[in-house]
Amino acid sequence: MFFKACDEIMFISVTTLISYLNKDSFIFLMGKIVGVLSLKGGVGKTSSVVSLGSCLSDLGKKVLLVDCNFSAPNLGMHLNIINPEKTLHHVFERNVHISEAIHDLDKFHVIPSMIFKEPKINPLKLKDHLRSIKNKYDIILLDSSPALNDETLAVMLAADELLIVTTPDYPTLSMTLKAVKNARERGLKIIGLILNKVYGKKFELSIAEIERTVDVPVLAVIPHDINAIKAVSSLQPWSDRKPNAKGVVEYRKLAHVLVGEKYTSNKIKNIINRITPARQEINREIFYTSVFG
Ligand SMILES: Nc1ncnc2c1ncn2[C@@H]1O[C@H](COP(=O)(O)OP(=O)(O)OP(=O)(O)O)[C@@H](O)[C@H]1O
Ligand SMILES: [Mg+2]
Repeated sequence: MFFKACDEIMFISVTTLISYLNKDSFIFLMGKIVGVLSLKGGVGKTSSVVSLGSCLSDLGKKVLLVDCNFSAPNLGMHLNIINPEKTLHHVFERNVHISEAIHDLDKFHVIPSMIFKEPKINPLKLKDHLRSIKNKYDIILLDSSPALNDETLAVMLAADELLIVTTPDYPTLSMTLKAVKNARERGLKIIGLILNKVYGKKFELSIAEIERTVDVPVLAVIPHDINAIKAVSSLQPWSDRKPNAKGVVEYRKLAHVLVGEKYTSNKIKNIINRITPARQEINREIFYTSVFG
C-alpha cells in the first residue's frame, strides 16, 4: 500500500516535471530574473519574494528584489523602507536611472515602488530598465500585482522564468490555472509552484490535486504560520526571525535547488525526510537533476 502510494507520487511528479523540463530549455539560473506571480491577492507573493531572497542571500548570492506591484506596492513595507525618495516609479518617469533607485540593505538590494502614486507604465520598459543592471546580480526576484494587467504583463515580459504562488483552495487554484495558461500562451517558462498558507487539513486541496489540475510541480510547501505575519509587523524577513521554522526551511531548500546547490542537514527530521521524502522533495530532486545534474 505504502509503496504503491510512493510509486504513484513518483510517477505523477516525474511525468509532470519531465513533461516540460529539459536541460536545453532550462539553463543555469544564475544571472536570472525570476517573476513571482499569482493572479489572486494576498496569497503570499511579497512574503515569498522576501523569504526566498533572504535565503538566496544566505547562500552568498547577490540578490535584487524589485517591487513590480506598481498600483499597490508593499515590498518596501516588509523591509522597513518607508516613503523612499527614489523608486521604480521615478525610473519609469525617466527622472532617475534604475541604479539610483536601488536601496542597499545588508542582505540584498531592493527597488521599491511608490505607494501614493498612480502608475503610468509601459510594461515593455521594465525589461529594458532591468537589462542595464541584470549582470550585477546572481538573481533578481520580481514581486508582482495580483491583477492580470500591464503590471503583471511587465513582469511576465521581463522575467526569464516564473514561480507561481498558490494556496490549497479552489478559488486560488482557478486563478493559478489562469496564470499558468496565460504564461504558457506567451511561451514563458514556469519553474514551479510555491504552495503557501497550508494548514495540513483534510478540507484543503492536496498537492497531487493541484499538480494534476495545473500540470506544474509544487516545489515548496509553506505552512500557515503566525510568525510569517509577525515578521511583516517587525519589518524583517521571516527567515531572520525564525530560521528553523518549517516554512523557512522550505524556502531555504527551494533557494538551494534554484541555484544548483545541495541542501544538507544532519537534523533527524531531515534524515527521516530523505528516507520517506515528501512530494515537494521529490520534485526538487527532479528539478535539480534535470537542470544541474
Ligand atoms: N505562510 C504564511 N502563513 C501565515 N500568513 C502568511 C503566510 N504567508 C504570507 N502570510 C500573510 O498573508 C498576508 C498577505 O501576504 P503577502 O502580502 O505576501 O501576499 P501577496 O500575494 O503579496 O498580496 P498582494 O496580492 O496584495 O500583493 C500578509 O499578512 C502575510 O504576512
Ligand atoms: Mg504583494
